[in-house]
Amino acid sequence: MSNVFQMDCKANGIHWGGLLKALILPVPFNAVIWIRIFLWLEKHHLPTFLPFRWLYHIHGLEFARRIRIGGGLRIPHPHGILFTEDMKIGERVSIYGNVRFTRSYDKAPRIGNDVFIGDSTVFTGKSGIGNHCIVGAGSVVTKVFGDNVIIAGNPAGIIREYPIEQK
Ligand SMILES: CC(C)(COP(=O)(O)OP(=O)(O)OC[C@H]1O[C@@H](n2cnc3c(N)ncnc32)[C@H](O)[C@@H]1OP(=O)(O)O)[C@@H](O)C(=O)NCCC(=O)NCCS
Repeated sequence: MSNVFQMDCKANGIHWGGLLKALILPVPFNAVIWIRIFLWLEKHHLPTFLPFRWLYHIHGLEFARRIRIGGGLRIPHPHGILFTEDMKIGERVSIYGNVRFTRSYDKAPRIGNDVFIGDSTVFTGKSGIGNHCIVGAGSVVTKVFGDNVIIAGNPAGIIREYPIEQK
């Protein structure tokens, strides 16, 4: 098993029994498995039609091209999540339901490591967030934020900065 997928399993508390279940049943971790299959096929220039359709029809999740996602991905409620082309997501990121990563012109969002993205957040193409951050539910993120912040609102602003050890 690749290191990235091992990190996914660890972040989702998945062991062998759970992995077998997640392979067969449309539980949230099944979406992570199919995302990894999509990325592997794309990396090897193989057709991605099947994982794309599976993610879209079974999980209600839209996945585009040239996306990079680090290990430890958590998507507890996959429905309604849109991943746009060329976006980058770091390690140990949790993304909740209906989060939309959108493009603006040729720009795509960048997400750091150890980030929690609350329900129904929208990221515009020019936006991004650093490491160890929380994005409040329903935020519209329109610019780039640094590390160790909690942001929320429309447009999103910093509601609190905090040292990493307090998280
Ligand atoms: C962002 C969040 C973590 C902040 O929690 P918190 O640290 O307890 O912050 P508080 O509730 O004390 O709020 C601080 C301020 O930010 C505002 N605020 C908090 N969350 C907000 C949000 N999502 N959107 C806009 N403003 C928000 C509050 O109104 C408050 O403003 P005030 O100081 O003017 O009164 C939390 O509100 C949140 O959105 N969590 C995500 C929930 C979620 O999506 N869970 C996954 C699905 S279960």
